[in-house]
Amino acid sequence: MANTLSAWDRYKKYLCVCPSVGMTVDSSRMNFGEDYLGKMTPALEKAFGAMDRLEAGAIANPDEKRMVGHYWLRDAERAPTAELRAAITGTVEKIKRFVGEVHAGKRAGQGGKFTNVLVVGIGGSALGPQFVADALTTAGDKMRVFFFDNTDPDGMDRELARISLADGLSKTLVVVISKSGGTKETRNGMLAAAAAYKVAGLSFAKHAVAVTGEGSELDKVAVSEGWLERFPMWDWVGGRTSVTSAVGLLPAALQGLDIDALLAGAREMDGVTRVHDAKKNPAAMLALMWYHAGCGKGLKDMVVLPYKDRLLLFSRYLQQLVMESLGKEKDLAGNVVLQGIAVYGNKGSTDQHAYVQQLREGINNFFVTFIEVLKDRAVGDAGNSAAMIVEPDVTSGDYLHGFFQGTRSALAEKGRESLTITVDELNAKTIGGLIALFERAVGLYAELVGINAYHQPGVEAGKKAAGVVIALQLKVLKHLRSGKSGTAEEIATAIGAAGEVETVHLTLRHLAANPEHKVAASGTDVVGCVYRAG
Ligand code: PA5
Repeated sequence: MANTLSAWDRYKKYLCVCPSVGMTVDSSRMNFGEDYLGKMTPALEKAFGAMDRLEAGAIANPDEKRMVGHYWLRDAERAPTAELRAAITGTVEKIKRFVGEVHAGKRAGQGGKFTNVLVVGIGGSALGPQFVADALTTAGDKMRVFFFDNTDPDGMDRELARISLADGLSKTLVVVISKSGGTKETRNGMLAAAAAYKVAGLSFAKHAVAVTGEGSELDKVAVSEGWLERFPMWDWVGGRTSVTSAVGLLPAALQGLDIDALLAGAREMDGVTRVHDAKKNPAAMLALMWYHAGCGKGLKDMVVLPYKDRLLLFSRYLQQLVMESLGKEKDLAGNVVLQGIAVYGNKGSTDQHAYVQQLREGINNFFVTFIEVLKDRAVGDAGNSAAMIVEPDVTSGDYLHGFFQGTRSALAEKGRESLTITVDELNAKTIGGLIALFERAVGLYAELVGINAYHQPGVEAGKKAAGVVIALQLKVLKHLRSGKSGTAEEIATAIGAAGEVETVHLTLRHLAANPEHKVAASGTDVVGCVYRAG
């Protein structure tokens, strides 16, 4: 059935108003027919049922035979056993106690009271903490937060240089986060940080804490080296849904953010999105709109366009949450379905001077999720005593709002679909709410399309593939150090890796470019040059 109502009537009809979480979701500019919600009701009811069972402790991740319990993290009473409830509340108390001691200077670095936090982690063990830190930072933060979120040595050098300009390592607390405790990028970040402390004549153990699964490799290192503290991660919390566990709470609390408000916002949003009524449930509306836009096959990309600088990292955070959860080869029955929704975005109005041109006039392969924040800024904070007037009766924030509305209308005029999430104001509570909103939307959408949102076989495959390259590199180096030389093809054949000549070639190019390996290349032919130890 075609959509026959006026834009304003559709707006009134489909606006999902959630006063308890300070948010509304407007789906009226998605071009679904008036009978769409009714048609989807049976499938949505099934999805609601599956989410209810998941929250009650069912094995919702069948491949890994795990429960999926991120909702319990902000409402421990919902956890299925007393042991889990105690673990959740005990961890929040432990975080607060530890952070209180750090802020009071009772736990200090070798240079005195800790003023910096260096978080070492990747993927779900970094993106949530990074988003929260950037969204809620103020001039009044209790500690500055830095990140190692890759195994790029230059990236780590750059972060260390920033730390040295800000009180240095002796006042820096290093928080190493890895659920599995075996992720190489994080292990390398930890080793690089430890080396930097050594060079500075400092004890790394006296500045380090771990967030990891009990008994993991990282946990063993923390125990054997006598690190300051250890905080748990559990198998029933997925990496990309771990921001309301110690993974996100510890860095946020150290920064001085209100973690109780973050948890309360997530808890309240969980309450709102648990309701079995699409029009009152913003997560259900999002999931249904994603399904409508991409025909349940991810045929349209999701462009996340917040008109708020503080939400800049939200699209990166959502990119992982959505794409790692929904990007799956097979459905739960084992059929090849090649599911997923591509997510990208940055912020408005900045992006109007970049890719929005294509959104308005080019290929129509997307839907936009606008995020609007009603309150422009915290007047009174950080010396913001007056509104930023740029023209009579017009503030800089009014322009931001004008650009948001203008783009939304311009897209609609051209038949481009959009959703709009309006947030009353940005604070720890609404950030918690936004996180919970999308976690639930992803869970519901996964049920609608019949996939496991909670495993990540592709990520595991990538981790293994890197190991194969490193093993080959060690063979190549052994060969060269035995006094032999040759082209990539000759070396690959000599080490019994003729079938992997391209990997050998790429590895040799990288080895020769980095002096620590002492590999020399002679000749100008990129593919035919001769390598030797030198
Ligand atoms: O969401 C996920 O599961 C992944 O992105 C992980 O968070 C990421 O691979 C890091 O894993 P770990 O926390 O075990 O180091």
